[in-house]
Amino acid sequence: MLGGLLYWQFVIAEGAHLGARVVVALYDRFAQRYDRVKNFDPQVEADTLALPLTVALAAVEAPRVLDVAGGTGRLARALLPQIAFDGEVTVLDLSRPMLTQGRPHAAPWPRRAHWLQAPAAALPFAAATFDAVACLEALEFLPSARAALAECARVLRPGGVLLVTNRVGFEAWLMPGKTFSRAAFRRLLGELPLEAVEAQRWQVEYDLIWARKK
Ligand SMILES: C[S@@+](CC[C@H](N)C(=O)[O-])C[C@H]1O[C@@H](n2cnc3c(N)ncnc32)[C@H](O)[C@@H]1O
Repeated sequence: MLGGLLYWQFVIAEGAHLGARVVVALYDRFAQRYDRVKNFDPQVEADTLALPLTVALAAVEAPRVLDVAGGTGRLARALLPQIAFDGEVTVLDLSRPMLTQGRPHAAPWPRRAHWLQAPAAALPFAAATFDAVACLEALEFLPSARAALAECARVLRPGGVLLVTNRVGFEAWLMPGKTFSRAAFRRLLGELPLEAVEAQRWQVEYDLIWARKK
């Protein structure tokens, strides 16, 4: 019984119900193995994230992109190799080891990738700083998805692109209070100054949601 409870909280829910310190401590310990376990397919990352985002930002010269709870720099690593993307990516995460793992992968673009240890709930940027803000596979692990989304919207400029995921499917049921039904997530986004909200199925366990700030 106790073993099952611990497995649920520490392995399946990754500490999500136990607060930011536990979540980040787990990611600190797991950082060296993260990329190997996730085994991201570069082509899928390009097709589903980098290319659509590059197209969405095509009218912006040198766009500024923020990846909140960006971990080992998944989005930066997909975006920076795109020939049509001439902007900068800031990867923000509370786990320093996660950032440390990702940084060498962006070495070919030293002035276009920035790595910052900070909490998603209080982004250290002025309002309307970024042309695009992403938060991928992370909202369910944060102390408050609502607060993090509000911060994402705050630092996004009007007309900018918001790209977030909502965990769905079986594992979402195992994280009560940390995940949202599709309708509830749409209502949550409805509290923010967003338009053109579009959701697509993504990676089995997630919906990928695109929106523009009004
Ligand atoms: C499942 S990983 C996702 C990483 C990345 N977005 C991706 O898709 O590969 C969740 C990330 O959220 C980060 N994280 C957890 N709590 C955080 C917080 N309160 N503020 C910022 N980052 C946090 C973790 O350190 C971890 O890197």
